[in-house]
Parts: sequence; structure tokens; C-alpha cells
Amino acid sequence: MTNRQIVLERLPGAEKLAPEHFGLRVGERPAPGPGEVLLRTRYISLDAANRAWMQGATYRSALEGGQVMAGGSLSEVVESNVDHLRPGDLVFADIGWQEYGVAPGSRLRKLPDLKPETHLLSVYGVAGLTAYFGLLECGQPQPGETVVVSAAAGSVGSVVGQIAKIKGCRVVGIAGGEEKGRWLTDELGFDEAVDYKDPEFKRRLRAAVPDGIDVYFDNVGGDIFEACLFAMKNHGRIACCGALSAYDGAPPPHGPRGVPGLIVTRRLTLRGFVLFDFDDRRDEALTDLQAWVASGQLKVKEDVVEGFENLPTALIGLLHGENRGKRMVKV
Ligand SMILES: NC(=O)c1ccc[n+]([C@@H]2O[C@H](COP(=O)([O-])OP(=O)(O)OC[C@H]3O[C@@H](n4cnc5c(N)ncnc54)[C@H](OP(=O)(O)O)[C@@H]3O)[C@@H](O)[C@H]2O)c1
Repeated sequence: MTNRQIVLERLPGAEKLAPEHFGLRVGERPAPGPGEVLLRTRYISLDAANRAWMQGATYRSALEGGQVMAGGSLSEVVESNVDHLRPGDLVFADIGWQEYGVAPGSRLRKLPDLKPETHLLSVYGVAGLTAYFGLLECGQPQPGETVVVSAAAGSVGSVVGQIAKIKGCRVVGIAGGEEKGRWLTDELGFDEAVDYKDPEFKRRLRAAVPDGIDVYFDNVGGDIFEACLFAMKNHGRIACCGALSAYDGAPPPHGPRGVPGLIVTRRLTLRGFVLFDFDDRRDEALTDLQAWVASGQLKVKEDVVEGFENLPTALIGLLHGENRGKRMVKV
């Protein structure tokens, strides 16, 4: 009747996240009260945002030292005190890095019975839905246009580029290293890939988008944002999804240059978004995503790390670019 938990023992501040910021605690398995559900964690989603939550309040409250590390999971109902959930049902839960947790039933929705179930955390979960709404709603890509996406080999970026191809765009992915670039072009069908770690990155980016960028899907902010901003066409759109270059370690010395000047002169539209903004339109997105996966137009790449105790190193590895596609830990 035990429950293993991984605790964020101390906030990293401006340090890089390291294993010593975490600790393992063994507690008692909780019992659900009225209106509550006991959940067993099957897979824990690893997200760049896990690190951003350590920096202060965002769309959720800031993490504090000593608390169970926060994170989303694919969990199974073990005991239910609500009518709409039964033992065995799968839900997406926000109970953090622990083997068991209790959540109010009102916050849980039964997930469809899809195989493999890991797709509920990847292409049919936060990553796929973020890519879908961020690109199509904020980016508004049109056939023949040039779309650039950063963190392109990650969970959101790899889906963004493929959806842009499905929509008839020319797609350039920005990722770290030649090997990831080859994977994007050879396996996922991107037109070109540019390595942001190459000292010639800016020149190579300009060469990859000779006529400029219509849509930039920004996962990273910082210098890559700046390089793309200078390559935008008039009336281009930038979908601001995240700023992961600023999540881990000391903040960059300066913000991107060209703001606001280029936004004015090139009449750009920048739109920030959070996935929850589109909650009422999930079914529409899932219908399209499922059809594209079934037809083979959308390839799903998952990076499953085995073992609950490996959560801290798996998150640190994601921040260092170890993953291709959606990283999660099998508990
Ligand atoms: N707005 C929303 O609702 C929403 C929802 C979900 C996610 N997001 C955002 O989506 C972005 C991607 O997150 P994710 O969880 O899907 O992670 P991910 O893309 O699967 O993994 C992160 C990747 O970022 C790359 N990276 C790390 N540091 C970088 C840097 N300094 N510059 C450029 N690339 C770097 C690494 O690959 P390389 O080898 O290429 O470096 C790494 O694999 C994040 O900004 C996140 O906050 C937003």
C-alpha cells in the first residue's frame, strides 16, 4: 500500500536543472474521499514546460521546493466515487510524479479506448493538440507558403512540420545536430533542416528560406526567434508557443533584437496561445489527427523511458535535446 513520489527538493533558480534538485519519497497510498478518484499512474509526460514552472507562476501556480514534482500523466482509475468513471478507465491527470494520486472526479474525463495507449499522451495529447491549434489557428498557413518550426525534432515541433506538409506548405525545421536534421527530412518529409548549433546557423537559415518565411512556429524564443524574425516576409505570422531557450539556466543577456521595429515595418502578426484556449474544440482536432495517423500522413514518434526512478534524468535529458518526438516515462 505504498506510494513512491519524486519531490522537487529545491528550486534550481538560475542553475541548470540537475538530479540533486530531486529526491525520492515513499509515502502511503492515498484514499479517495467523496467525489474523488484514486488513480494509478501508467505513463508520466515529460515536457519542457516542467522546467518553466520552476521559474514562477505561469498559466499555473509556481512550483515550490518540497512539493511532489508536477506533471501530467496517463493514469488508470483504481477506485471511483463519481458516476462517470469506473475502475480501469484511462484519464489524463495532473497528479504529478507519483505512482498513485487522488483527484476530484469533476476534473477528469474518460479517454477514448485507443491503441497504442501512449498516443493519448503524444499525438492525441498535449503535443499533438498544441501543434494543431498553434499552427492552424495562430499560423494560418496557406498552400505554397514557407513554414519554419524550431525545436522541430521534439514532440510539438515534429507534429507541426508534418501538419504544415499536409497543408501543402514548404517546411524547414530547426533542430540541434545533423542527425536530427536528417531524420526530419528523410523520415518525416520536411523539405529542409537547419542545425542551430552550427556556427553558420543564420546564413544557413537564410539559404533555406530564400524568399523569406510566411509562418514561424516558435518553440524556443531567444536567438533563433531573432534569426527568424529578420527572415519574415511582409504580413508573416508568428505562432508563439514557448520559449524553451530561456527555461533552464541563467536568462539570456538580451532579448531578441528587431522588436518592435520589424513587427511594424513587415506588418507581422505575433500570437501567443496556450492549449487550454482551445479546450472546446478538441474533438475537431482529434478527428483530423486520427485520420492523418491512419492514412500514414502523420508519423508518430515516441521516446519512452522505462522506470519511475528515471524521471529526473529523463527530464534533464529532454532539456539537453536527448529526445526525438514525445518523451514519456513508463511507471
Ligand atoms: N503554448 C502551449 O500551450 C504549449 C503546450 C505544450 C508545449 N509548449 C511549448 O512547446 C515547446 C516544446 O516543448 P516540448 O515539451 O514538446 O519539448 P520537446 O520539443 O519534445 O523537447 C525539447 C527540445 O528542445 C530542444 N532544445 C533544448 N534547448 C534548446 C535551445 N536552447 N534552443 C533550441 N532548441 C532547444 C531540444 O532539441 P535539440 O536537440 O533540437 O536542441 C529538445 O529535444 C516548449 O517551448 C513548450 O513550452 C507550449
